[in-house]
Amino acid sequence: MSVHKSDLKKITTHQLQEMKNRGEKISMLTAYDYSMAKIIDGAGIDIILVGDSASNVMAGNETTLPITLDQMIYHGSSVVKAVTRALVVVDLPFGSYQGSSGEALRSAIRIMKEAGAHAVKLEGGSEVKDSVERILMAGIPVMGHLGLTPQSIYKFGTYTVRAKEEAEATKLLEDAKLLEACGCFALVLEKIPAKLAKQVAGALHIPVIGIGAGPDVDGQVLVMQDMLGINQDFKPRFLRRYADLHTVITHAVGKYITDVKAKDFPSKEEMY
Ligand code: KIV
Repeated sequence: MSVHKSDLKKITTHQLQEMKNRGEKISMLTAYDYSMAKIIDGAGIDIILVGDSASNVMAGNETTLPITLDQMIYHGSSVVKAVTRALVVVDLPFGSYQGSSGEALRSAIRIMKEAGAHAVKLEGGSEVKDSVERILMAGIPVMGHLGLTPQSIYKFGTYTVRAKEEAEATKLLEDAKLLEACGCFALVLEKIPAKLAKQVAGALHIPVIGIGAGPDVDGQVLVMQDMLGINQDFKPRFLRRYADLHTVITHAVGKYITDVKAKDFPSKEEMY
């Protein structure tokens, strides 16, 4: 279903809060470039996340760690230019906010000024409290991210479900409340038990967006390349594939190659 231009109203953090208050689920997808962002914004997505998953999906890295602030700004500015309705959130990449709150603020300011983002997202709870507060003090909206936080993959050692044990679940709930108290406008919960995600979403007033966190949260986020079936190797249980673009693209390219080799392209109508 695509949305009519006349129905388009710019999404703000305030509107996302209202959506939670009235029980309307929030839709969020990642995008990293102008063309894709234009399509999903036109389809009516509420939030576009320029995720540091660009490191995996766009650059082919094994983890999110190598992507730089300059690269995130490049992806962010490409997306922002395409968007007329969605709220655009850009990830602060690994190494751009952990050193000090001053560094975090400088990184967030660069994302807002140079990419034109509407908000930033960063990973972690009490460990990044000072950075979150400093960024918020500058008037920059912050989205939190708890549970599986891929920037800490070498600490976790695996991408399996987080917070299954009570101690980690308790810390996650405390961190969620802390991020809300600091002033974050929303929180992403990645790959945690659905029961815990429901508890967090129930305890918080701000919207909680899940990925692999079950249905009882205020919205869902997926990586676009995964849900469109472009990336075929990634098959976690939480992923629903809405298209098989890998097959569609492979067929289209195969047909093009055949036509070129057969001198069937271009035709008379396709030349000047
Ligand atoms: O970088 C990303 O794509 C993310 C989502 C998985 C939430 O952080």
